[in-house]
Amino acid sequence: MMVRVVVLFAIAYMFGSYLTSHTGEEDAPIGAMPGCYRLGWRHGLLEEVSKARDVGVNSIVLFPKVPDALKTPTGDEAYNENGLVPRAIRLLKDKYPDLVIYTDVALDPYSSDGHDGICREDGVIMNDETVYQLCKQAVAQARAGADVISPSDMMDGRVGAIREALDDEGFQHVSIMSYTAKYASAFYGPFREALDSNPRFGDKKTYQMNPANYREALVEASADEAEGADMLLVKPALPYLDVIRLLRDNSSLPIAAYQVSGEYSMIKAAGVLKMIDEERVMMESLMCLRRAGADVILTYFALQAGRCLCGEKR
Ligand code: PBG
Repeated sequence: MMVRVVVLFAIAYMFGSYLTSHTGEEDAPIGAMPGCYRLGWRHGLLEEVSKARDVGVNSIVLFPKVPDALKTPTGDEAYNENGLVPRAIRLLKDKYPDLVIYTDVALDPYSSDGHDGICREDGVIMNDETVYQLCKQAVAQARAGADVISPSDMMDGRVGAIREALDDEGFQHVSIMSYTAKYASAFYGPFREALDSNPRFGDKKTYQMNPANYREALVEASADEAEGADMLLVKPALPYLDVIRLLRDNSSLPIAAYQVSGEYSMIKAAGVLKMIDEERVMMESLMCLRRAGADVILTYFALQAGRCLCGEKR
């Protein structure tokens, strides 16, 4: 059964993306993303979320930085109920029960191969074996209190399988935001540095989409809709405005756009060098995503943009 939570339609259009650190209690700056930190899993995380809520950002996405010692070829740490993400969810929900928590579903932060799926010896990504793991990961996150499960792995058939696994475990009320059109993009570079999740060999082109391909986004969207997705996501965002508009015009579901790490870092770097007016370029880029049809935006600028919007209102 597909059940959409009410909260999905009430959320602000801006999200934060937070990177949490497994070992450290201290926040650690991310070199390639000035202004972003691997947040210490307790104080840093709580403080950042509190600052975000102060400016009206009440939805977050969690990404874990997992120590190498916990990474394996099958990424089993992904469904450890005492792993970083489930612990962070419980901590946050305890303090802020009305916070909307999105969780990422994919094996890359937990994989010793740095891939979103399980690799066979010859390098082939094993789709169905991976989906089995992803279902366990989704259920562990839902059990901890996640509101929206967001599969970013691009395996085939995972939305339907995760929907069934969640329903079987009594999580009919937990939504799925599918990374529907996720391109094999060079714009993810800074994020992979932040998570230390670069693929050990090969690339992600066998499961992520070819940036040259437009129509495939429609094929992915109809599969995800049929499998029970509650929201469809396009990623990266600004270089893919046409794809956002394509899905907005061809689906009744909310469309999300993910302004990824490389997009963030380009604006930041030029801003730091005073080559552009950072704040105006940031707000313009977010507004353009709205214009293209994004109902929801995931951005590392969430806090900064929230502050900016509050300032304007005052
Ligand atoms: C992987 C994942 C990636 C991002 C979010 N989830 C990177 C990748 O596909 O290698 C990238 C986000 C960003 O660049 O901001 N499951």
